[in-house]
Amino acid sequence: MNILGIDIGGSAVKGAPVDTRTGKLLAERLRIETPGKVSPQRMGEIVASIAEHFRWRGRIGAGFPGVVQGSTIRTSANLHEKFVDCDLGAIIEKATRRRARIINDADAAGVAEMRFGAGRGQKGAVLMLTLGTGVGSALFWRGVLQPNTEMGHLPIRGKSAEKFIAASARRIRDLSWKEWGAELGDYVRILEKILWPELIIIGGGVSDKHRKFFKYMKTRAPLVPAEFFNDAGIVGAALAGTGKV
Ligand code: BGC
Repeated sequence: MNILGIDIGGSAVKGAPVDTRTGKLLAERLRIETPGKVSPQRMGEIVASIAEHFRWRGRIGAGFPGVVQGSTIRTSANLHEKFVDCDLGAIIEKATRRRARIINDADAAGVAEMRFGAGRGQKGAVLMLTLGTGVGSALFWRGVLQPNTEMGHLPIRGKSAEKFIAASARRIRDLSWKEWGAELGDYVRILEKILWPELIIIGGGVSDKHRKFFKYMKTRAPLVPAEFFNDAGIVGAALAGTGKV
């Protein structure tokens, strides 16, 4: 089935049609910058413009950086607070006149990696972390997703862990790869004590620089970079759009 996958992020919304049997993008992705915090209605219009660009007539799957229950958003740490408790699925369906499903962005990335990437064939507990503006997590057992794990909000020194260990925090705090990698390692070891994953996948834009920081992380479980790098969110959102995730 071909689905239009949309990855809603803090600085941009990205989309492309995806062949959900292979995980391949069927066209070059479109990226629309979103300067400032956009409202849910405006987000609906942005998604509609992406659908229009691809002359899309089929279903849509969209990943959102917050807790998602059904098609309703429950948290919005890095986007407009107006998203909280709004039915984003209904807004997108109204704006595009297409069927739409919503999934947490890190869950989407994890689903793509489990199906087609670094987690392929893994039957044990797998933890995927996405390091970007925030920190997202996706947890799998026997390939099945436990949705909305929010490991980026584990409290550390009185704040959400993502304030210290997101990729954005490395730049804001002006940390070296070694300093940041060591802090990230400490954080991942806390998660290991609680969740006991058998494989840890690190995604997000920084994952292609994993050689710079994996060496400072001492984890028990094998640590691997995501294979999809930047497109996992789009591919996983499209998989969610099938209604079978
Ligand atoms: C949100 C998560 C999201 C992550 C990455 C966090 O702030 O709470 O839901 O997956 O950022 O975007």
